[in-house]
Amino acid sequence: MRLNGKIALITGGSSGLGAAMATRFVAEGASVVIADIDDAGGEALAAELGANARYIHLDVTQEADWASTVGGIKTLDCVINNAGITTAGNIEQVTLEQFRHEFEIDVVGVFLGCKYAVAAMKERGGSIINMSSLAGIKATADLVAYNGAKAAVAIMTKSVAAHCGKSGYGIRCNSIHPGVIRTPILDKVLAQVPNPDEVYAGWVAVHPIGRIGTPEEIAAIAVYLASDESGFTTGAEFRIDGGSSI
Ligand SMILES: NC(=O)c1ccc[n+]([C@@H]2O[C@H](COP(=O)([O-])OP(=O)(O)OC[C@H]3O[C@@H](n4cnc5c(N)ncnc54)[C@H](O)[C@@H]3O)[C@@H](O)[C@H]2O)c1
Repeated sequence: MRLNGKIALITGGSSGLGAAMATRFVAEGASVVIADIDDAGGEALAAELGANARYIHLDVTQEADWASTVGGIKTLDCVINNAGITTAGNIEQVTLEQFRHEFEIDVVGVFLGCKYAVAAMKERGGSIINMSSLAGIKATADLVAYNGAKAAVAIMTKSVAAHCGKSGYGIRCNSIHPGVIRTPILDKVLAQVPNPDEVYAGWVAVHPIGRIGTPEEIAAIAVYLASDESGFTTGAEFRIDGGSSI
């Protein structure tokens, strides 16, 4: 098993990519802390995964939640800053309030996650994995807030990686950039647009591989980044996108 004995905290772990990573991590011998605001979903998943999983309520935007959560875990080997939302809309449509909300969860949440991960892991080393998106590299007209937020995650990841390297902490920090992956977030985006069928067909069309991805295909790269196999990997962007960035 590739993650034997490791302890990982996964934000947004109740659903979609977070749930797939929690499931795969337990299968690989890790203990996981599923951290989310969806208490029912997180508790059900933790019960399903058994003794090596537990759920805690953690709103990634609340520093007090981070302080009490991370303070309560004896050792941590991996923090996955995965919780996120997607705000649809172009520069003329997205309101300042929506833009701030997007940044509060997807950027401030990751900033706090990195801050508390470094504090918790700097004595023993570890792995921080930040969930960006292909949208953090490649812009589209209708994702102005999400594009900005996910690009911020990518460059912040490199800054954290540089700091941890320079400080000799043994902490690596990398970002994952998925293409479109079949999770509940897609339904939340489709609910925001007037032409959902057209938007869905457009998502499939931009992936040269001919389909959208599965959560398990993202969990696979997270296993690599959490494991000691990736010991020389930091500050890197992992595009898992069916070729859509070609
Ligand atoms: N699915 C995709 O196509 C795709 C592609 C690229 C990147 N991503 C990114 O992957 C991550 C996970 O997305 P997903 O597709 O699994 O979506 P999802 O909607 O299925 O899951 C997101 C989870 O985050 C949680 N969450 C939201 N706000 C939170 C907060 N303030 N504190 C704690 N938890 C919170 C939700 O409750 C939910 O469980 C997101 O950051 C998303 O932007 C997804």
